[in-house]
Amino acid sequence: MSLERQLHLNINILHSGFSPAAWRMEGSDPRASFDINHYINVARIAERGTFDAIFLADQAAISDRVDFRPLTSLEPTIVLASVAAHTDRIGLIATASTTYNEPYNIARRFATLDHASGGRVGWNIVTSADLSQSRNFGLEKPVAHGSRYERAAEFTTVVKALWDSWEEEAFIGDVATGRFVDSARVHAIAHRGKHFSVHGPHNVPRPPQGHPVLVQAGGSNDGRELAAEHAEAVFSASQSFEEALDYARDLRSRAARFGRGPDSLLVLAGLATIIGSTEAEAKRRQEELRELIPLEYSLARLSGVLQVDPKRLKLDEPLPDDIPQPPDGGHTFFQATLALARRDRLTVRGLIRALNGGTGHRTIVGTPEAVADDIETWFRAGAADGFNLMPDVLPHGLEVFVDEVVPILRRRGLFRQDYTGRTLRDHLGLARPANPYAIAAE
Ligand SMILES: Cc1cc2nc3c(=O)[nH]c(=O)nc-3n(C[C@H](O)[C@H](O)[C@H](O)COP(=O)(O)O)c2cc1C
Repeated sequence: MSLERQLHLNINILHSGFSPAAWRMEGSDPRASFDINHYINVARIAERGTFDAIFLADQAAISDRVDFRPLTSLEPTIVLASVAAHTDRIGLIATASTTYNEPYNIARRFATLDHASGGRVGWNIVTSADLSQSRNFGLEKPVAHGSRYERAAEFTTVVKALWDSWEEEAFIGDVATGRFVDSARVHAIAHRGKHFSVHGPHNVPRPPQGHPVLVQAGGSNDGRELAAEHAEAVFSASQSFEEALDYARDLRSRAARFGRGPDSLLVLAGLATIIGSTEAEAKRRQEELRELIPLEYSLARLSGVLQVDPKRLKLDEPLPDDIPQPPDGGHTFFQATLALARRDRLTVRGLIRALNGGTGHRTIVGTPEAVADDIETWFRAGAADGFNLMPDVLPHGLEVFVDEVVPILRRRGLFRQDYTGRTLRDHLGLARPANPYAIAAE
């Protein structure tokens, strides 16, 4: 693989850190997840490390054991609007659901944020698999898996059409003639589909990036089809190198079926990090975090991901071998967790330890050198174009990564020394989508 491929690094700001115990660690502020300055501070550290973007997940519900750990709380696009005002280059990726939103509102919110940030925005398209959210939107159970993705595909098509409904030259602003906009260059989209009827046009000029970058995170067959058709960056949760290679190859071949080139889609693998100056210190830190995670919390989390009665999870026995795949739940973390347990023949206690309180993302515990080696191996082999990093504790874990690992990656010629562009598309090396009306006029 030629080195002109650029490694991409995002920080997934999971409130106080990846570990459910992060808020209890020395130097952590228990209120951080509710404090806008925490996100601004983390974004600035990531920008100092010339990261591609910060990423904010989202659930419109309390979907985790809030009695033990911080939750996804503040609305991500509002948080990023504030971060945009305090940063200059770092990309800003927010999650928004296609199941519990309307296309016109999402098109407007992300276009506005792209204008406000000078073209630094990305939209993580999720379909919201969990029960807790469906109950906040008048439903007693999650929308069926297939229907969620069918709606998501139409939703995304409508949002892109709205972003394209203003041609680049639509805005005139000619004070002398009094012509503000050339309305002949602002187009109704007149969309009529199974899930949506949207007349348009959009009421926001075309975003600086043309389209904010489209991101997706869902590894099921439906999830991969949505990604192959629309996503420009995909967050994966691969537990092993081989699995990540298969996933990346599968996505690229599906994208080719939609007429998309290999460079039009980036795979960013989830990677949780616990770093120490020595391996022993990293392991000590991992132990310290594990001891702060109540067993009750870990069992509840595991039974939630596997959608199995916690009473069936015997600590010193392997997982029951008849756990059915949740029909309408999320498949990615279910499979990642099961794969980890089966591959390493873990008991429930062993699995809980291996998950470090998480839901199935791969965790690396080691020195800065070891982390850089791991990243280089996956990147050079094409198992990932970059990583969605989840440091154990924020901001400490990110500061260590920026000060200790980034210099190694730069020395090895894998990662940028400095930003060369201003927009998220520039950072990710993604083309700016042309406006279909302009193409038609050629
Ligand atoms: C890195 C990553 C981030 C995610 N962020 C969110 C999120 O913010 N909100 C959400 O509802 N789901 C989130 N998901 C879950 C996915 O959107 C999806 O529901 C899940 O991966 C299951 O998809 P599948 O059923 O297609 O396998 C995330 C998944 C991954 C891998």
